[in-house]
Amino acid sequence: MLEKVEFLMKQMIESLNDKHILELFHKIPKGKRLRAKLILKIAGLSDDAYKLAAIVELIHAASLLHDDVIDDALTRRGKDSINAVFGNKTSIMLGDILYSKGFTSLTTLAQNIAYKVSNAVALLSVGELLDVKLSEEFNTNEELYMDMIYKKTASLIEAASASAAMLAGKNVEIYELYGKNLGLAFQIIDDVLDITQESEKLGKPSMHDFKEGKTTLPYMYLYDRIDEYEKERLKSLFKKDLSKDDKIWIKNKMQETSSLDDSIKYAKKLGLEAMRAIRDEDSEGLKKIIKDMIERDF
Ligand code: FPP
Ligand code: MG
Repeated sequence: MLEKVEFLMKQMIESLNDKHILELFHKIPKGKRLRAKLILKIAGLSDDAYKLAAIVELIHAASLLHDDVIDDALTRRGKDSINAVFGNKTSIMLGDILYSKGFTSLTTLAQNIAYKVSNAVALLSVGELLDVKLSEEFNTNEELYMDMIYKKTASLIEAASASAAMLAGKNVEIYELYGKNLGLAFQIIDDVLDITQESEKLGKPSMHDFKEGKTTLPYMYLYDRIDEYEKERLKSLFKKDLSKDDKIWIKNKMQETSSLDDSIKYAKKLGLEAMRAIRDEDSEGLKKIIKDMIERDF
């Protein structure tokens, strides 16, 4: 099933007739293909569903090539990132190639689908810019964080579900709601794992978000729940290289104040909302996606 998606993605890049680009393409660390799985589960195994899945995965891969440059990330999924090996310029241009080829292929699908997906890519970019802007200072505004993760992460997952529903002639609204809540929960879990997992498991340095200026949900909960003296201590560590002791202090405080547990609870609540949206759709597969995503450990 997913092999066919991989094949179509490769085909789109091969059509450029450029050996160097194809070689670079093969060096991109492969992900979980969550968006492709979602599309095939909702739309079924038609030619257009495979095509849509390949397009959305190309766009997603492109966004990560850009994101790793923006975040100065030297690893992706446990492997060297493209920017780490070939430099920022290559990573950005390879990203441009991937998303442009995705868009070329998108023009061959129905207009409502092309609109949904391309609009989500605009939101994705707005979200990434918001993420950069929010990282300039110690953000404690939960609403701004939720809006940013909706745009940065949930919008493409929402569009993937909605456009798959369009392909299959299913109720678009409920799948859109499913995708949105799945996407929000996904990003919150991603932000929790950045704190709880060791770097070997994560495939990237642990607690890198705080160093990058990202006060994700657990940091916001923590800030709210500690005294003035501790607030100052937490703020003094913002964007710094954390020592082992600093990391232990933050993690212990997060345990004491249930900041991590409550973040996970919130992600679960969103996961349940997603399940509720599709409760009458008889889709065990989609429910399993939510369960696996919340219970994942990397
Ligand atoms: C990862 O977030 C980043 C995203 C999900 C979206 C990034 C979007 C862009 C760079 C815009 C792309 C635009 C085009 C036209 C393709 P993260 O840094 O929180 O997650 P990570 O831990 O996986 O790096
Ligand atoms: Mg990143």
